[in-house]
Amino acid sequence: MKLVFATNNKHKLEEVRKILGNQFEILSLKDINCFEEIPETQRTIEGNASQKAFYIYNRYKIDCFADDTGLEINALNGAPGVYSARYAGENCSYEDNVQKVLKELRNKTNRTARFKTVISLIINGEENIFKGIIKGRITEEKRGKRGFGYDPIFLPEGYSETFAELSADKKNKISHRALATQKLIKFLARL
Ligand code: IMP
Repeated sequence: MKLVFATNNKHKLEEVRKILGNQFEILSLKDINCFEEIPETQRTIEGNASQKAFYIYNRYKIDCFADDTGLEINALNGAPGVYSARYAGENCSYEDNVQKVLKELRNKTNRTARFKTVISLIINGEENIFKGIIKGRITEEKRGKRGFGYDPIFLPEGYSETFAELSADKKNKISHRALATQKLIKFLARL
């Protein structure tokens, strides 16, 4: 089965391709010659996932899914949340965002957080939503070189390594994205 993953993020694409295995052929936006910036202007993670998936479906009339992810930190009232990509400002880097989180949490004892992924899948114009959540805490400093985004400062519950210290295989078994993608797989298998 062929499905378009409405993302330009090569890390997400690589993770989802690994999780889905070879039962599905996942096409990127590049593969369908889509080089546009996809709007993400909603106020919720769910809203952004839907917006991205419908944007591609409406333009290309092709079955597709989109993922929107946010890091929700309890001591910051759920921030950066839906603004995780641009927490430190427009056009900021992963490093800028990580440094901003560490700064905001300086001297805070409650460092609990969670990653949430919402996948919006559109098949024949009908939407289905899948969610994945992993709880954890924010470390005092960066640890590890793997992964991307906030991985070096996220310690999943029950583990002593950050997402950036765990192997890609391990992250792809337990992560927010893995949990949401497993639900997507189950749904597709039933079709
Ligand atoms: P997006 O809006 O879904 O593309 O993701 C928002 C931001 O969350 C990204 O720019 C990354 O900084 C971060 N992010 C998304 N997924 C992950 C992940 O699996 N690990 C660490 N950071 C992530």
